[in-house]
Amino acid sequence: MQIADFLVEIWMNRYEDECQYNLAETCVQSLTVAQLLDLAGQRDAVLAELAATPLTYGPIRGSDRLRGLIAGLYDTHSPEDVMVTHGTIGANMLVYKALVEPGDHVVSVVPTYQQHTSIPASLGADVDLLALDEAQGWRLDLDRLRELAHPGTKLIALANPNNPTGALLSRADLEQVVAIADAAGAWLLADEVYRGIDQAGTGSTTSAADLYPKAISTGGMSKPYSLAGLRLGWITGPAELIEAVSVHRDYDTISVSRVDDLLASVALAAKDVVLARSRDITQRNLAILDGWVASRPDVMYVRPAGGTTALLRYSPPLGSYDFCTRLLEDTGVMFTPGAAFGIEGTVRIGFADDTDNLKVGLDLVGEFLDSLEH
Ligand SMILES: Cc1ncc(COP(=O)(O)O)c(C=O)c1O
Repeated sequence: MQIADFLVEIWMNRYEDECQYNLAETCVQSLTVAQLLDLAGQRDAVLAELAATPLTYGPIRGSDRLRGLIAGLYDTHSPEDVMVTHGTIGANMLVYKALVEPGDHVVSVVPTYQQHTSIPASLGADVDLLALDEAQGWRLDLDRLRELAHPGTKLIALANPNNPTGALLSRADLEQVVAIADAAGAWLLADEVYRGIDQAGTGSTTSAADLYPKAISTGGMSKPYSLAGLRLGWITGPAELIEAVSVHRDYDTISVSRVDDLLASVALAAKDVVLARSRDITQRNLAILDGWVASRPDVMYVRPAGGTTALLRYSPPLGSYDFCTRLLEDTGVMFTPGAAFGIEGTVRIGFADDTDNLKVGLDLVGEFLDSLEH
């Protein structure tokens, strides 16, 4: 199967271990196992359970406990509607493999995580890209979506909250997207891996999977739950979809690790405290980023409403790969080039990691920008 290079992952793999100030990280500052157990207030009990866990494959679709906790993140789903996967990345891949065939029509909202354009294209689909409107605060153009999605369209894909912009669909807009998908008879794939840390309200935006029988929500433990090392994600959707996915999953997953299943269950059982920590970090850090952007005449952005990332538009006339490579060489600060998302003149920042690191990193970026002007 031919597939395009995954530009963001190539960039991250190349530099993330050697940079000094990683402002490209998209996870909320990761937890150690000990921090997780302490946050959950369950250290001894979990360690005893872990010690007694037989290292068999375990329940193939994920333990009943874990699938029950994941179902609890939705208003209208039961554990039977949940399939546990190797990360959200595994979840998305499985959904495309199960649903998309050569010649299908797919509409993908961009900028986005590249899986949502390159995988359907590699499966032979005809992929229409619908660009969020930067001038309107990265708003989704619903009229354009209505034009693009026609009867027979197989699937509409979007990431909500969005990576890289941090844009969030209001419930009213999401309802309109659902109405458009319904009129077209299309599946709606909502990558909701950043759900849980919105800047306003309860922090947890409405899931598409609670609004439409043909909506699929993918998510995982990496971003708001700070546990990317578990490599654990899920698909929530109707039984028909879970069965179709299961046929493919037997070939590439069997089951996830029992250790990961257990630790993810611990985190989701303690989700209120885990997410409160994450919201605290994301709100504090975004205030710092906001202040920094306001102090720079050469940087603009649309303040993210959710997630952990934002696109910063800079004024110096440099391509974004050049900008990021020179910044890395001069200061050790790592951003991600906007060109990896098809948006030149911007860089993506991940603002949800260590607060001190963010402050020092932004100061250095300021010095770098000043040096470009002289
Ligand atoms: C929108 C989006 N989906 C999926 C993923 C993959 O997440 P996971 O670590 O759960 O596999 C990422 C990672 O950056 C992402 O940004």
